[in-house]
Parts: sequence; structure tokens; C-alpha cells
Amino acid sequence: MSEAVETILNEVTEHIRPGADERVAVKTLTELIIKKVNSKAASMGINARAISVGSTARDTWVSGEADIDIFIMFPADISEHELKEKGLLLAKSVSDRYEERYASHPYIHAYFRHGGREYGVDLVPCFAVKDATSLKSAVDRTPFHNEYVIQKLSGLEDEVRLLKQFLRCLGIYGSEQRRKGFSGYLCELLILKYRSFLTLLKHAANWRYGERIDIEGHGQYRGKDPLIVIDPVDPRRNVAAAVSSYSFCRLIDAAREFLAKPSREFFFPKEVKPLSESEFRSILKDRGTYFVILRFKAPDVVEDILFPQLRKAESSIRRLIERNEFVVYRSDVTVDEGYALLVFELLVWQLPGIKKHIGPPVTLRKHAEKFKKRHSPPFLIENCRYVVELKREYTDVMCLLKNELQSCSLGRHLSDVVEEAGYEVLTPEELKLTPGICSFFRDYFGNS
Ligand code: UTP
Ligand code: MN
Ligand code: MN
Repeated sequence: MSEAVETILNEVTEHIRPGADERVAVKTLTELIIKKVNSKAASMGINARAISVGSTARDTWVSGEADIDIFIMFPADISEHELKEKGLLLAKSVSDRYEERYASHPYIHAYFRHGGREYGVDLVPCFAVKDATSLKSAVDRTPFHNEYVIQKLSGLEDEVRLLKQFLRCLGIYGSEQRRKGFSGYLCELLILKYRSFLTLLKHAANWRYGERIDIEGHGQYRGKDPLIVIDPVDPRRNVAAAVSSYSFCRLIDAAREFLAKPSREFFFPKEVKPLSESEFRSILKDRGTYFVILRFKAPDVVEDILFPQLRKAESSIRRLIERNEFVVYRSDVTVDEGYALLVFELLVWQLPGIKKHIGPPVTLRKHAEKFKKRHSPPFLIENCRYVVELKREYTDVMCLLKNELQSCSLGRHLSDVVEEAGYEVLTPEELKLTPGICSFFRDYFGNS
């Protein structure tokens, strides 16, 4: 290891490792909430038990980024309905300020003030199943993850923090649909496999699509994801299933960059100036492309449901545009201030009023006759086929999108809002440049 890398990693570690005060605060607050849940359960006659899980239980959280994860375990033989009802009731009873959230199932995200700071706390009801392969709900594996990691990871916690911070700065930490990056548990497993942040990077620099990591050597998963990390507590599951090919490649690239030229900057989020209105206009002018933006009220569903639907709509609309012979250069989706935006950048956005329609080979007599009956002359011949010129239906992409959106499959939630509240087709000039939109375009143009 060269001196420079070691110094950098040590320095960063000192910076992101929680100090004594933070540790004490997290520990006290966690114990306090667990006690509260358990005594409430007793007084309400509910058979449940709270435990501490996640990065604060495993000492793998990055200083200042702690979310406290508390799971409320119920006997495995109660119904889903009962779990939800009693679980949420119990979770709400211990907090004054909270919101209901849904991942694969409902939980409570509460806020607690402690020692002059506010902490976000996830209170998640789950079934206490007997092993991680016989789950009743998707979160039932978590207590097993917890046991596994606590048992194996000892001494490598700082390496996990380095990895989390590195990924966070790249914008690929977190397995939510919006991000499609690396979850906390995945980071822990990668460090368990390679034993250090730097060794992980050295391997990642050479990863190939479909890279497979199976710490326990028991994998049964056969999917075609970019990265496959078999869950040590469940051989059927790929812990990296949410990692998109973009996030996968981003890490490979950053690993090579860091190894070639190690620097602290990889661990501290860059101060990105918001794109100013004039910068934005001048970038657009230099590109010479044409942007169309579809905007509608974002349906009231969680991001993990919204984003896959937006991406589906994006590709469906892209196909509509391309079917009409316009040329899409790039496209992307975002959500900002309650609106969903689908952004299309075009190389060709206007077309002449004629359109070539290619018919059958001249030598196929029957088809040729049919074709001639259906169309009107002149019949041109090109490459031994008949060709007629038709009038193009849409000569402008704006017009196409204003009229034909209903022919695209938008998914249930999107088509509901579009039907109710309509949608707008905007040019960048008509788009209000909110801070969110500016930062979206900053990323879109490559973070420069
Ligand atoms: P968190 O999202 O809070 O992650 O989920 P974390 O590991 O604590 O990491 P940070 O430091 O807060 O970012 C808590 C636990 O829930 C399970 C994992 O066991 C995780 O440690 N979990 C969460 C999953 O299994 N899958 C997920 O997609 C999310
Ligand atoms: Mn957490
Ligand atoms: Mn959490």
C-alpha cells in the first residue's frame, strides 16, 4: 500500500467514524425506544419484542448519518393483517411525530429529539420466523442479517464506513428505486468478502458483468443481474438485485480512478454550484439538440413504486417518438416539487411532410397487385421493391406528444393522474428552473 493511500484512508476514517458522544447518544436513545416499545406492548397485551438492527446495531454507520432501525418482532403464527394492525399501533404509541411509510410492507418512520439532535427512527414490524428462508414478509430476513454481520464483521467496521461514504459521494449508495445503488447490508457483505475497502476496489476495477460473490458457497440464485451477491442467510436471494448496470459500472470506473490517483475528494461530496439560468441556456445552445419535457402531477405513491413506472413510461414514449421517425438522443426522468418530469433530448425533432412507405418486391406479383390497389401512384421502384410517398402524420415532435400520449402504456398510477389532471408538453424555455430541476440537469450534463 502506498503511503499516500494509507494516509488518506486513515484521515477519512477519523472523519466519518462516530465519536464517543454520538455513540452514547445513539445507544441511549435506541435502548430508550426499545424499552418504551416493550413496556407498551406489555401494557397493551401485545405479544411482541423490539430489537435493534441495521447499521447502528452493527457499528457500521457513518457519523451524522445515523438512522436508528428498530424491528418489532411478532410470533410467526399471527396473520399479516394482525401484524400490520398491532405493529403500527405499537410503533405509533411510542412517538409523537412520525409518518407511515411503505417498503415492501408498512412501517413507521418516527422522529426523536435527543441530546440536542434529531434522529430518524424506523420502527418496522416483522415476523419472528425460525430461519431466513421461511419468511412471511420481505423484512423478516433482517434480524438474521443482523446476527450474521455482528458475528463476522468485527474489526472491519471502518472499512464498511469508507465504502458507504465513497458510494454516497458517487450518488450510488442506497437500494431505493430512485437510486438503484448499493444497500448498507450489501456494503457489509462486500467488505466481508474482500476484508478491506482497498482490496474491494482492486477487485471491482476488474469486475465483469454478472460478477458473482458467494461467501457461504451455497447460492441457488440464477438471475442475470450485473452483480450477484448471494445472501449468506438465504441462498435464493441476490442482495445486489437492486444494483443497476449504471451503479455497477459507476463503481468500477470510480475504483479505477481512485486507485490511479487516490484523493480525499472521493469521500467528500463536491460543492456543486446550482446551474444558473444563463449557464443552462448556454449549454442548451451549444448542444444544438432539442428538449421536450412532459410534465404531470406526480401520483401519490411512494418513490419505490413511482420510479419504475416513470422509467416504463419513458421507454414507451421513446418508442412512440422513434416509430414516428424522430431521433431521440437521450432521455431521463425526475420528480420535483410534486411533479413528475420525463425529459427527451432529440437529434431530429422536425421532419418534412412526406414519408417513404416501402412495399413488396416487384417480383411477388400477388402482393404487388394488392399494394398497387391500396395506394395511389406514382409507384417508385427502389431495390426491387415498390415505394410510395405518403403524407407524414406528425412533422413536429411537440405535436406528436400533445396528441398521441394515450397510445403509450403509462402504467396504472400514471395514466390515472394523466386522465384526471392532464399533462403538459414543455420546451426548456417554458420550464421553471427550480433548484431541483437545476440539479437534475447538472447531473444530466455530467456534473460538470
Ligand atoms: P437501512 O436501510 O436502514 O440500512 O436498513 P442500514 O444497513 O442500517 O444502513 P444505513 O447506515 O442506515 O444507511 C436496515 C436493515 O434492513 C435490512 C438490512 O438488514 C438493513 O441493515 N434491509 C434494508 C434489507 O434487507 N434490504 C433493504 O433493501 C433495506
Ligand atoms: Mn439504518
Ligand atoms: Mn432504516
